[in-house]
Amino acid sequence: MKLSNSRVGSLFIVIALGSLLLGLLFGVLGGLQYVFPDFLKVHLSFQKMRPLHVYLVINWIFCSATGAIYFFVPEYSCKQLFSSVLAKMHVALQAIILIIVVTGFFAGIFGGREYLEFPPWIIILIIAAWIVFMINFFVTVKPSFKHVPVYIWSWSTGLIFFLITIIEAQLWLLPFFNNNIIRDVTVQWKAMGSMVGSWNMLVYGSSMFVMERMTGDKTVNFSKKAFFFYFLGLTNLMFNWGHHTYIVPSSHVVQTISYVISMTELLILGEMIYSWRKKYLLLYKNKRPLPFRILTYAEVWIFVNLILSITISIPSVNFYTHGTHITVAHAMGATIGINTLLLLASLCLIASEIAEDVLKSKAFTRGIVLMNASLLIFWLSLIGMGICKISAVQQQNGFYEMMNKLLPYFKVFMVSGIFIVIGLLMMIVPLFKIFIRSSFQKEIRK
Ligand code: HEM
Repeated sequence: MKLSNSRVGSLFIVIALGSLLLGLLFGVLGGLQYVFPDFLKVHLSFQKMRPLHVYLVINWIFCSATGAIYFFVPEYSCKQLFSSVLAKMHVALQAIILIIVVTGFFAGIFGGREYLEFPPWIIILIIAAWIVFMINFFVTVKPSFKHVPVYIWSWSTGLIFFLITIIEAQLWLLPFFNNNIIRDVTVQWKAMGSMVGSWNMLVYGSSMFVMERMTGDKTVNFSKKAFFFYFLGLTNLMFNWGHHTYIVPSSHVVQTISYVISMTELLILGEMIYSWRKKYLLLYKNKRPLPFRILTYAEVWIFVNLILSITISIPSVNFYTHGTHITVAHAMGATIGINTLLLLASLCLIASEIAEDVLKSKAFTRGIVLMNASLLIFWLSLIGMGICKISAVQQQNGFYEMMNKLLPYFKVFMVSGIFIVIGLLMMIVPLFKIFIRSSFQKEIRK
């Protein structure tokens, strides 16, 4: 039985893909500003470009995960969503938030903290939209939590922890926190680190659903191993944030616990995709549908990022890498190589079920290869920038000398960034067409 169309799910995916397209545009413009610092300096400086890019790409992650959940939940529970009115309210609120934040950025209205650099009152709208989503999810699924697959746990955890962390990320507004730099930095990074964990739970849950659907084997998502890895992921979400706070003189116990836990990060998902691929290849020897190919690349990125994450989590290494482009490589490697690829796999699966033949084009497969090859060069150039900066600081080079040393890396970063965009466009454009069409189509439960 094929997936039924979900208009709200499709609308969320259209918003997500639109955000990604815009986010990529601002990413490339930001990359150009690395090489040509005066480019657009007056109207759209790097200080504006960066938050605009980061907000839009994070919106891509949240909205596409949300869209996928709107498709998968009715399928899992074999019934309609609890309330289509709440679902419409959710998508309308999301569109309003996106418009307010982006127009605010263009008008120069910033605020908040890193990753959430808009006026804090907008958080009220975000919380309202999220509560609406949570009600619809939990009432539709009505989980007994005694016998539900691991992806329901994963989605539920992501939903609950996003609500907790978005509130926690606003604690800096209270004098008790913002009057004390250690408390402020610790709480801020704790909230943001766990917020990343919450979106990972939403994304990973959808990947588990996709893998189950592709093999038809429902037992895997009830297995002890799946639940062991889920709890390991939950431990990461709750405790690994400590590796962001090595720079503040906080408790050594917290730092040690988070370091040990960081070691397990990503291994969880990597192991699950690895076992699934083995099983899939046993069942369907020569079949390599698009979601399978994308998940295979994601698996490679998981292991590549795992090596980097473990390295930069070592406190003595972190002392040098913190605040350099190596941290940016870690953040972009994970959000592009893992989150974006996993989400594209979910969208491909949905698209292939609601609009069959459209995604069989060779251009799509070439796009996957181009994007991944360019991402490797892009990622290495960021690590190169980081190493170059560390050595310039060690040698006590002046700013001008350091920038000269960095320039070749900036150029590679910019050019490979443009190729990532071309590769992504080869995938996004056909997906965009399918989801725009399905957002106008009637919902008929199959
Ligand atoms: C799916 C695509 C992408 C995602 C998910 C993504 C994600 C991110 C994230 C999370 C950050 C913040 C990093 C941090 O906090 O350290 C960032 C920064 C940035 N990204 Fe991207 N990015 C994408 C594509 C691109 C592309 C194609 C370019 C083009 C060159 C680009 C250029 C930049 C720049 C210039 C920054 C600022 C780095 C700095 O602070 O110096 N991004 N991106």
